Parts: sequence; C-alpha cells; structure tokens
Amino acid sequence: MLTTNKIILNKARKGRYAVGAFNFVNMEVLQGIINAAELEKSPVIVQTTEGAIDYAGIEYLSAIALTAAKKAKVPVALHLDHGKELSYIRAAIKNGYTSVMIDGSHLPFEENIAITRKAVALARKKNVSVEAELGTLGGIEDKVSGKVTLTDPAKAVEFVKRTGVDTLAVAIGTSHGAYKFKGKSKLDFRRLRQIKDVIRIPLVLHGASGIPPDIVKKAVKYGAKLRKTKGVSDAHIRKSVKEGISKINIDSDLRLTFDAAVREVIMTKPEVFDLRKILGPAREQITDIVRKKMRLFRSSRKA
Ligand code: G3H
Ligand code: 13P
Ligand code: ZN
Repeated sequence: MLTTNKIILNKARKGRYAVGAFNFVNMEVLQGIINAAELEKSPVIVQTTEGAIDYAGIEYLSAIALTAAKKAKVPVALHLDHGKELSYIRAAIKNGYTSVMIDGSHLPFEENIAITRKAVALARKKNVSVEAELGTLGGIEDKVSGKVTLTDPAKAVEFVKRTGVDTLAVAIGTSHGAYKFKGKSKLDFRRLRQIKDVIRIPLVLHGASGIPPDIVKKAVKYGAKLRKTKGVSDAHIRKSVKEGISKINIDSDLRLTFDAAVREVIMTKPEVFDLRKILGPAREQITDIVRKKMRLFRSSRKA
C-alpha cells in the first residue's frame, strides 16, 4: 500500500527501529526491494535521485513504483532522494511521489532554510512529506561543498523550527559511495545523542552502505545511554535510549550486489544472451541483501 515517509518514520521513531530507503533505477532493482519488504513484512521506502530521473524519466520510474506500491501488502513510500532543484520537487509531487528530499546542505544556512521552506510549501498542498539536510557528508556531497561539515545540534533546532520539515538528514560521519569505512568506526555518536535530545522528528542517515552491522545497530538504537548525573531525570534517561536513526539510505550496496550478479552470469555463462537470465538473478540478489538490511534495521514484521 502506498503511504508517506512521515507515517512510516514517525512509527519507526516511536518503535525504535529504522526503515531502509533503497535507491532504484530500473524495474529489477525495484522489484527486488519490494519482494524483500513483502517477505520480511517490513515497511519500505523506495527512492530515486535526480540522476535516476534523468536516466529513466520520472514518468517511467513513478509508474513502476506506484504499481508496486499499490500491489504490495506492506507500506511503501516513493521518495525523491537529494532533490537539489525545486523543478524536481515539483515534478515528483506531480508524478505521485509521497515524499521529497530538498537537499540544500551545500548552501549557506539561510539559503538552505529558504529553499527548504519553498519545498515545504509545495509539498504541504499535496500531503507530501519533506526531508531536508543540515551538514554535509563525504562522497558525492563533498564534490559539491568541498568539505565535510557535521551537523550542529543548535542549528538543527533552529532549522527544524523555521522550515517545518518532517524528517532531517544529519551528518555524523558517514559518506556516500562504495568502499569506505574499512577501518574503525568514525561515527560521531556523541553528536547523534546531542541532536536527538533536542530534535523531535525522525532523523535520517545517508551514506549507510558498507557500515559495519554493529555500528548500524548502534545508530538505530541510538548509541549510548545518558548517564545518571545531577539534573538528568530518570524519565529523560529512559527516553534518551528510545529513538535513534529512523531512516537509513542505501544505494551503493545494492549497486555492488546487482553488478556482481550480472558479471557472474556474463563471465560464467558467455553463451547466455537472454536478458531475463542475466537480470533475473541480480533481482534475486537484491532481495537477499535488502532482507538482510531490514533485519539489521529491525523493521522486519513492523508492516
Ligand atoms: O546518494 C545518492 C547516490 O548514491 C548517488 O546517486 O549517482 O544517482 O546521483 P546518483
Ligand atoms: P550509499 O552510497 O552509502 O549507499 O548512500 C546512499 C544514500 O545516502 C542515498 O541518498
Ligand atoms: Zn544520500
């Protein structure tokens, strides 16, 4: 069933689990993701970047995703990932997306607020959820900004208040792309705790491919418990461990999986030239990896 990010993620925040937001660029990846959600009985977010839209066409992508959502028994939201231009936000809303991200993270604070407010105004009219971002990640984002800036908790409070967004992407040390995180965890859990303690909307983690499972688990469960110190009530301590990250974005891990499966067929069975026999196994591999992510995020059986 088709629903919005706001509904899926407010529930996840309260239930202390995270919902995966998986990127797709074609039918096989999309079906692989939706099949996983059905098998795990998990809510799911499927998302497309501006680049995916430029590649496939928004009418094609929304048509297959809305068809899948309608047929699915689990809640499915269709989300625009990293919308940098308002024209893509408008196009997504027009084509039935139930959620959009306006990514002004590369802009100065006031400009980020201004463009986010515009996106919120457009989305509200159609009951579409809005995600924004404060702070920058490595990878594709540092190509734009040239540097990585982690989210400032005080600024985040002001940002949420002045924009009215439904969910906020935070920068706590992840980066986009493959082959990262080979060494020790560099996630700033202290910062996550500070943000979470003052922000009352679901938080989003981008660049989550390749992060070791125990670190993902910790981010979902929200890292460390607050310590019993003077001025911190027991109720506050209990609350502090309740909500962590509520939405986790995964793209690169699916790309690597899909590519490896296609390569495997092509290399081991050079006689095969039926596209269904090349792409079919890749679709199955997507289902497998997405199921594993859903279990890790604790969204299985939460549909
Ligand atoms: O964060 C988004 C991506 O992993 C980059 O996607 O190449 O479709 O822009 P893209
Ligand atoms: P990865 O490159 O780590 O998969 O990040 C995906 C993402 O953040 C999409 O918005
Ligand atoms: Zn991202």
